[in-house]
Amino acid sequence: MSHPLPGLPERVTIYEVGPRDGLQNESATVPLEVKLELVERLLAAGLPVVEATSFVHPRWVPQLADAAELVARLPLDGPVPLPVLVPNERGLDRALEAGVRHVAVFGSATETFARKNLNSTLEDQFAMFEPTVRRAVEAGLDVRAYVSMCFGDPWEGDVPVEQVVQVGRRLLDLGASQLSLGDTIGVGTAGHVAVLLEAFAAEGVGVDRLAMHFHDTYGQALANTVVALQHGVATFDASAGGLGGCPYAESATGNLATEDLVWLLDGLGIQHGVDLPALAATSAWMARHLGRTPASAVVRALA
Ligand code: HMG
Ligand code: MG
Repeated sequence: MSHPLPGLPERVTIYEVGPRDGLQNESATVPLEVKLELVERLLAAGLPVVEATSFVHPRWVPQLADAAELVARLPLDGPVPLPVLVPNERGLDRALEAGVRHVAVFGSATETFARKNLNSTLEDQFAMFEPTVRRAVEAGLDVRAYVSMCFGDPWEGDVPVEQVVQVGRRLLDLGASQLSLGDTIGVGTAGHVAVLLEAFAAEGVGVDRLAMHFHDTYGQALANTVVALQHGVATFDASAGGLGGCPYAESATGNLATEDLVWLLDGLGIQHGVDLPALAATSAWMARHLGRTPASAVVRALA
């Protein structure tokens, strides 16, 4: 039985990032066949978007060096978008060659993380993204943009809200259709989410163009999700079983677990289209493969 709260969206899009954000942090190489089965099972469980992999430099993220081989075996022209990360034109070229239809660039709200994650400066990242986004849009692709370190940065500490809004605004102005606000290290809390969303609204960026990307490092992801729902956000990134982290961000652990999000949405009577038992079984299978307990409380409770 659900217990709705007033004023929340009726339906939410769950943007599954497990195969990308989840696996990119695994040091032991996950075989291509396992990655393929993971994506296929997520599709079968009804996830409406599955971020499949990244066309980044293979030396930076060796786990995803098989991106082209993976996407060659995925239903890229099927009904469910299978986006990939592309940091630059080289990544875009590789994605285009592979027949990808949806890409995402990923910017940093801080100077230090721009250097650590992109080997760039805060300013120079836009010069890298500008031709990437322009050419992707010209090629008819859908482009999402991430902003990382929206709530705090392990090297710089607090990140000013205005700095996040400025980076986000510039990424949207380049032509991205959606902005995903990343709490890369999971330090954000409920009131901070409200302040950030209100700052974007004041800048003319409505919640229809925003997604939230919470990592659950400090156990705040669901509380933060409720506040974002109350502000009308209707797209949430999550990873099956809570897989994940970021190899270039100290202290980043897994994303908000998709099952935990589904449990919350079910309780609120918000539609999402995901088959929870099928999803939890997928995460349990993946955790067995990785040789560990699933991070998701819901997966553990259902087991
Ligand atoms: P760089 O070393 O400065 O690259 O890395 P470069 O442009 O100087 O090029 C050096 C060489 O790399 C050249 O080859 C390029 O062709 C090649 P050479 O001429 O020496 O033979 N190269 C590439 N090869 C394959 N694919 C490419 C590519 N680009 C250049 N795309 C670069 C700059 C951006 C490439 C590097 O820093 C990189 O790959 N970074 C990616 C890091 C990453 O994937 N991080 C995790 C994803 S972000 C995240 O997790 C956060 C998120 O979840 C949201 C949140 O939680 O906040 C999204
Ligand atoms: Mg992330």
